[in-house]
Amino acid sequence: METELTRRLAIQYPILQAPMAGGPSTPELVAAVSNAGGLGSIGAGYLSPEQIRQTIREVKQRTDRPFGVNLFVPKQPTTSADAIARMNHYLDKYRIEAGIATNPPIPKYAESFEEQAQAVMGENVSVFSFTFGIPSQDIMEAMKLHGINVIGTATTVEEAIKLESAGVDAIVAQGSEAGGHRGSFLPSKTDALIGTMALVPQIADHVSIPIIASGGIMDGRGLVASLVLGASAVQMGTAFLASHESGAHTVYKGRILTSSEDATEVTSAYSGKAARGILTDYITDMRTYQGEIPDYPIQHAMTREIRQAASKANNPELMSLWAGQGLRLAKERGAAEIVEQTMEQARLLMRNMGRQ
Ligand SMILES: Cc1cc2nc3c(=O)[nH]c(=O)nc-3n(C[C@H](O)[C@H](O)[C@H](O)COP(=O)(O)O)c2cc1C
Repeated sequence: METELTRRLAIQYPILQAPMAGGPSTPELVAAVSNAGGLGSIGAGYLSPEQIRQTIREVKQRTDRPFGVNLFVPKQPTTSADAIARMNHYLDKYRIEAGIATNPPIPKYAESFEEQAQAVMGENVSVFSFTFGIPSQDIMEAMKLHGINVIGTATTVEEAIKLESAGVDAIVAQGSEAGGHRGSFLPSKTDALIGTMALVPQIADHVSIPIIASGGIMDGRGLVASLVLGASAVQMGTAFLASHESGAHTVYKGRILTSSEDATEVTSAYSGKAARGILTDYITDMRTYQGEIPDYPIQHAMTREIRQAASKANNPELMSLWAGQGLRLAKERGAAEIVEQTMEQARLLMRNMGRQ
C-alpha cells in the first residue's frame, strides 16, 4: 500500500500515530508504531526544549525508523486582564474540589515556540508537524535546511491552501470527529465543524501535496475510505489512546473503552481552544460560566494544576479526556497490533471491493 507520502517519509504503511501532547504519546508508543511500519509521533507541544531533546533520544533508543515531533504554533492571546482575573477567581471552586491552594498567581502560559523548534532541529528527526497555525518563514526554511519533512494541520480548504503556499510537504486534514484540539487557525464564517468525509476530498481538489486524513479513523475501513477520498495516509489518535504503550491515565483509558460515539463534545473550557473530549462534570458545569473563557494558552495554564490534582486523585470529572467520535472502536491492544490489524483489514477490503 505504497503512496506518495509513504515514499516521501520512507515508511512502510500509510498510518501515522497522532501526536498526543500531555502524556499519551510516550516514547514507547512512538517507537512501537514506527517499528511496526507506520510513523510514530511525539506530541511535544507542552514540553520544554530540554524535555523535547530527552524524549527524542528516548525514542531513538527504541527505534532507528523515522518518527515525527509535533508542536503548537503560538497565537497572541487577546483576553483582557479583567477577564483572566475573573476566571482565575471562578476556578477556585474546582481548586477546592481538587484539594489544592486557591487563588494562585497566574502561571507561565507556554514554552517558547522558537526554542522548542530549535530543539527539534538539533536532534535530526525526519518529520516536524505542527498545528494551531503556521510557523514563521524562517522556521519553515530552517526545518527544510535540516532535511526535515514538514507537515501542517488544516480544518478547512482555505487553511490547507495557506499551508501549501507556506511550503509544507503534506497536510493533515483534520475533520471534526477528531479527538483533542482542533487545529483551526483562520476565522471562518460559521463555527464550522467540517467532518473528515467532507473535508478530505475538498482539500484534495485544491492542493497538490499529499493529504493525511484525520478524525474518526479507527481501523482498516477508515484507512481504505480515506485513500479513496484522496488521502495519501491517515493519522489516528483515539485508536492508540487505550493501547498498552499509551501514557493515558488508567481512568482515562477506562473511559475510552466504555464510552459510546455520543460521549464527546467540543469545548474550550479546559484550554481556551476548541477541543473534542468526553463529557465531564467540569465541562457541564463550565457551560454556566457567565464571563469570557480566556484564550489558549492562558486558560490551559490556569487549569493545569486542577487537572493534575484530579489525575492524582483518579477523578476523571476534572480531567481533560480528549477523544474522538470513533470511541466504540477503540480496543486495548499493543500499538503494533493496531497497525498490523488496520493494514490486514484494509488489504482484505481492497481485495473484496465491489463484491459487497
Ligand atoms: C489525546 C489527544 C491529544 C492530541 N494532541 C495533539 C497534539 O499534541 N498535536 C496535534 O497536532 N494533534 C493532537 N491531537 C489531534 C490528533 O492529531 C488527530 O487529529 C486526532 O486524534 C484524530 O482523530 P481521532 O482521535 O478520531 O483519531 C490529539 C488528539 C488526542 C485524542
